[in-house]
Amino acid sequence: MSADTDGFDLISPEAYGERGVPHDQWRALRQLDRLQHYTPKGFDAFYPVVRHDQICEISKQPERFLNRFGIVLESQEQKQIIDSDQGLGQMRAIIAMDPPEHRDYRKVAASWFTPRAIDRIAPIVEESARTLVDTLVERASGGEGEGECEFANEIAAAHPLRVLATVLGVPREKEPQLLRLTNELFASDDPDLQRKGEDRTATVQALAMEFFELFNAIIEDRRANPTDDLATLLANANVNGEPLGLMETLGYYLIIFTAGHDTTKNALAGGIRALAEHPGEFEKLKRNPDLVASAVEEIVRWTSPVNYMKRVVAEDLEFRGQKLQKGESLVLFYASANRDEAVFEDPYTFRIDRTPNPHLAFGIGEHFCLGTHLARQSQRALLRELIGRVDTLELAGDPVHIASSFVVGLKQLPIRYRLSQATRLD
Ligand code: HEM
Repeated sequence: MSADTDGFDLISPEAYGERGVPHDQWRALRQLDRLQHYTPKGFDAFYPVVRHDQICEISKQPERFLNRFGIVLESQEQKQIIDSDQGLGQMRAIIAMDPPEHRDYRKVAASWFTPRAIDRIAPIVEESARTLVDTLVERASGGEGEGECEFANEIAAAHPLRVLATVLGVPREKEPQLLRLTNELFASDDPDLQRKGEDRTATVQALAMEFFELFNAIIEDRRANPTDDLATLLANANVNGEPLGLMETLGYYLIIFTAGHDTTKNALAGGIRALAEHPGEFEKLKRNPDLVASAVEEIVRWTSPVNYMKRVVAEDLEFRGQKLQKGESLVLFYASANRDEAVFEDPYTFRIDRTPNPHLAFGIGEHFCLGTHLARQSQRALLRELIGRVDTLELAGDPVHIASSFVVGLKQLPIRYRLSQATRLD
């Protein structure tokens, strides 16, 4: 461990659960020109990459910095589970591929995620947002028009769940199962969210089997009865003239659902927390709804739900004069780049009309988030519904962080809100 990182805890899920992301430690690291070799307890060593320009440079060289050896830093315990796993580990998703293969597989779904294509599903997204905000209105009508809710689960998780389940062909009655599975997969370090079981290897395999059964039934159905949804596109996809293999098709379902759900949920919950804690910004947004698009950009910068992605050095090389060896890991901390004082004015200020806002919350380069437009559309729809009907927001208790350092955010956000006069049902 380098002296500059002594006492740092950049990766342990417990630390994230207790105090959220380590902004103070990243701020110190951003002052240093060289990458620091860091050996955390319970994990393999890596180089934290914390500056905006360094992350851009690395992400734009996918042949030198690889994804196929994994994009998540696994603890030594998780590694053992994955090495013995015959399920999830066998599914192949685009985020774990490198060029040229990556480009061929990304093309399969890329056309479905363009802004024009995403506009076509606006009615699904808007209906989900409207129905959820309806529940807030119903609950608070009568009396003073004041209500309380646990925003992270009741609203922020429910919205992307409905949208993604609909486009992936998951029947309504299976939505709770899908939500539980994604929590178990992503928050596998959080004792409140992880799958319960004595033997961790067996529980992870059971999780893989449940995902497999759920998605496989949809794949078979869409092959027999094609519609025009994303589920049908994936079930019948070809790569280089050959049908997609089962593990690759399942990998696609899994990456789209898991990459799209928790990220959007955490951005929404963190965004509402930020608006509740910055009432002036909430007021500004209500007065000027045209700011919704830039508010969403600031929310994803502020919350950076994907905290990092790992890359592995392809061959011995030099990065800005520093020797890196084949097989060494770099961890690109987007949440740090999004507070980089060399790029952002007042990076620690939440400002919904921030322009320009060149944040890296969706990554950059080869693996730039495929779901960016959908993520933006979903958040904008919910914000529009909220500012149309809610007058004030405040915290009604302490927010609780998820004990995870990969996809980061809140697992509980109690809020109190007051409806605007015109929207009360009484
Ligand atoms: C606020 C919400 C979201 C955030 C912050 C986010 C962030 C990210 C990040 C940081 C990456 C990796 C980028 C890189 O390595 O350069 C990524 C990749 C990806 N995201 Fe998102 N994402 C979000 C929502 C979504 C949604 C809604 C979907 C789909 C429904 C989605 C699908 C994907 C996929 C498929 C990839 C892999 C792309 C590839 O490897 O080529 N994401 N996302």
